[in-house]
Amino acid sequence: MHGLDDQAVARVSELLKGSTQPVALTGAGISAESGVPTFRSGESGFWGRFRPEDLATPEAFAADPLLVWCWYAWRRAQLAELSPNDGHRAMAAFEQLPGGFTVITQNVDGLHQAGGSHNVIEVHGSIAAVRCSADCGARRYLLHEHNHKHDHNHDRERDRERDRDASAEAVFASDREVARLVAEQGDAAFATISEGSGLSGRLPPQCSGCGAYLRPDVVWFGEQLPLEAVNRAFELSESADLFLVVGTSSVVYPAAALPEVAAERGAVLVEINPEPTPLSDRADVVIRSGSGPALSAVAQRLGLGA
Ligand code: APR
Repeated sequence: MHGLDDQAVARVSELLKGSTQPVALTGAGISAESGVPTFRSGESGFWGRFRPEDLATPEAFAADPLLVWCWYAWRRAQLAELSPNDGHRAMAAFEQLPGGFTVITQNVDGLHQAGGSHNVIEVHGSIAAVRCSADCGARRYLLHEHNHKHDHNHDRERDRERDRDASAEAVFASDREVARLVAEQGDAAFATISEGSGLSGRLPPQCSGCGAYLRPDVVWFGEQLPLEAVNRAFELSESADLFLVVGTSSVVYPAAALPEVAAERGAVLVEINPEPTPLSDRADVVIRSGSGPALSAVAQRLGLGA
């Protein structure tokens, strides 16, 4: 492992081994090594005339639901091609530690779960989940876990499961169609979609409960964070004895407050990030490197291989 601070890696391994409640906060950096395009990079040139800040808002969805849905469809299709990296896999392996391991993530990409983690709190929602845009009370559902087992005691519940399976398949199919048009036509794809590709009549899909449009279950600019997830995240941070801050610039609140709360309650703070952040000065241990190499080195030291 070139360029890694072996002492810091050893220290983090020992801390994890002895911790009764280790918790991590992750951000876009942990997914960078999987090739997830960052939110604001605009690198691809696709949809070049739109800025994410202008699309990821409730106002944008109200003004042009088809456009916002298609942008997320394209992003979902891109993500479906990507795989979790060593950093995600190491964090999944940490769940075998005596104190267990919970990840609080700001990412919506689902790569922690794809890497094998079970204890994941998504404070900014998930791009793989959809819910009713009118909040009619119909349950949110995960597209990538539509076969997930639920209590099948009731026929109505079973019927709902079947509905969800069918609509998840339909969403995946339309995602692929949108992505194909974007790949072929770039910026012109949206005009094709809205002017009679057949997709415009079907998208966004409608809520089976009330008929309103479905929307991605992510936190848009100007929206509240999901209360239950945020409360759990703060509770865990207050009781954690070890807190890893991985791949986040630690500037977006309230998530950035979690390590501060943990440190105030006495947790040991570890930062893993190739660049300094506003939190670096408060960290007890810093590993200045990419999260994949750093976390897999830690996992190997702990005999958890990754
Ligand atoms: N390993 C670890 N960290 C990395 C790596 C890597 N390989 N590559 C980059 N980083 C670090 C960068 O140095 C930076 O500090 O990841 C961080 C990414 O910071 P941001 O892009 O600001 O992402 P994040 O902190 O997740 O942003 C928080 O802001 O845009 C909103 O809602 C969005 O959830 C996001 C939130």
